[in-house]
Amino acid sequence: MRSAIAIAHPNIALSKYWGKRAGVGNVPAVPSLSVTLAGLSTRTEVTFDDEISADALTLNGHAASATVTARASELLDRVRAAAGLSTRARVVSTNDFPTASGLASSASGFAALALAAVRAAGLDWDAPRVAALARQSSASAARSLFGGFVELDGEIARPVAGPDRIDLRVLVCVTTEGEKSISSRDGMSETARKSPYYAAWLEAAPRIHFALKEALLASDLARACELAEESALAMHASAFAANVIYVSGATLAALATVRSLRASGVGAWATMDAGPHLKCLVAAADVDRVKPALEKTEGVLRIIEARPGEGARVLGQGAEA
Ligand code: DP6
Repeated sequence: MRSAIAIAHPNIALSKYWGKRAGVGNVPAVPSLSVTLAGLSTRTEVTFDDEISADALTLNGHAASATVTARASELLDRVRAAAGLSTRARVVSTNDFPTASGLASSASGFAALALAAVRAAGLDWDAPRVAALARQSSASAARSLFGGFVELDGEIARPVAGPDRIDLRVLVCVTTEGEKSISSRDGMSETARKSPYYAAWLEAAPRIHFALKEALLASDLARACELAEESALAMHASAFAANVIYVSGATLAALATVRSLRASGVGAWATMDAGPHLKCLVAAADVDRVKPALEKTEGVLRIIEARPGEGARVLGQGAEA
């Protein structure tokens, strides 16, 4: 038996990935830039075990569904092919935040799974190679291999700035503990198929992305966050027009809070992903002015405060006879 444990953190895209290039390999149609978050994590142990005849996945203490297990098996098959293994694996994964509700659990999940599987199989791959493996399962997962601010451009994920480049805090406004209704994969394919604004999104996204990257590298927090809100609104606008709606009343109430804070001169910006949680982007120095207003917003159940953090790493690995 060979096993390894890896930990990875979710990431929140500042400039969004929404839509895929035609063809195989799960390659994003637009470049994106994210921040990897400390304080939220997925811990995954992979054990290649000669005694079992099928991959088995336990997620947060429960056996995963056949669909979820099949997605993990696809990644494990790629690792087995590269390592010349045929052994099936036991995978035990836990998140310390709500799963599948737009909190990027697939990003940290596939990043931790890819790293643990590669190491358990005895492969000495570097982070870019592990990121490429994770990207095939979930493109945003490629970004969680790295810490700080991370770009995903086509097939390549790379860190662009360390966690301290800007003094950013992310206030994750949790609006439900439930699962999201439509996966990002389905949401993006519906958007590409049906939205009259998808072409406009494909044109706007790279412009927003490169301006945001420039603002970040100039350590301009306000400009970077303003562009992050612009990216999120453009992405959701294109999805809305395809009848793909992730926001709830609580999301919109929190968005109104953020915008009224900004109108009163407080630096607060919003971003949303494929789920109803709003993430408020704020300078560390402004957290005490922003958090109480969001806590009072109807429908916001609780707030998770996160800061830029580290990339995925191995916690332990071992080989037993
Ligand atoms: C809205 O990475 O979950 O969070 O590659 O199909 O697994 P797949 O999609 P996924 O999409 C993430 C979409 C997003 C924006 C982002 O993280 O860039």
